[in-house]
Amino acid sequence: MYQIIDGKKISQEIKDELKEKTAALKADGKSICLAVIQVGSDPASSVYVGNKKKACAYIGIESLAYELPEETTQDELLALVRRLNDDDKVNGILVQLPLPKQIDENEVIQTIAPEKDVDGFNEKNVGALCVGSKGFVSCTPFGIIQLLKRSGIEISGKRCVVIGRSNIVGKPISLLLLRENGTVTICHSRTENLKEITRQADILVVAVGKPKFVDETFIKEGAVVIDVGIHRDANNKLCGDVDFEKTAPHTSAITPVPGGVGPMTVAMLMYNCVSSVE
Ligand code: GUN
Repeated sequence: MYQIIDGKKISQEIKDELKEKTAALKADGKSICLAVIQVGSDPASSVYVGNKKKACAYIGIESLAYELPEETTQDELLALVRRLNDDDKVNGILVQLPLPKQIDENEVIQTIAPEKDVDGFNEKNVGALCVGSKGFVSCTPFGIIQLLKRSGIEISGKRCVVIGRSNIVGKPISLLLLRENGTVTICHSRTENLKEITRQADILVVAVGKPKFVDETFIKEGAVVIDVGIHRDANNKLCGDVDFEKTAPHTSAITPVPGGVGPMTVAMLMYNCVSSVE
């Protein structure tokens, strides 16, 4: 029988811990404020931003919402980011991605002050993760590590295979697994004999962005499978990068979609906001 790794429950535990910490900080006269910027009205982004604002309210973090029109220019967005960088009241700045095509995402990310970059996307924070010094760790990979640790899954010495090499998930989760003493292999769209590699994994992290890409033929019996994808299938039902029905019986533990990695991203964003003040 396999374990379903319950991201909803674990993220709730983390949020409750943070709620207590925030109350203690407030008693010390310290408040926390997150600025959330959304450009345009992509429906998925609106859901994510809404979840982030709700989590702030639950924990006791003030959130400032900036909803900018789709046609916002690069200069306008950069001016807002710079203004928030200089605003002492604001502890964290989050620019929801993706951004409209006229905007250079990388320039925006690099303009956010590293000490307010609660997404952990800025080069300074990514570099800190790489060399093992202090900095914000990006929220989805950070959440995956928490899921594993809080489910009692050992990482040290294990063979960890990551499918996907994005800056948001694939690269940082590989670095984090390495920091936890995993033996890490990164696979991507050009990897040859993919299944040969994934079948060696004790822990398989799937961040490919293709619905139900992984099935039981990709995994070793008893592996731990972490599914980072979120999609709608032909019946409009939410599904991940992993075909859960086919794969789960062959695992020892697996994250569901929804209710696995997704809620952890928000919880770890809140964690980063609280630590920006601590
Ligand atoms: N879009 C998808 N995931 C994320 C995330 O973690 N942070 C931001 N800012 N945008 C995203």
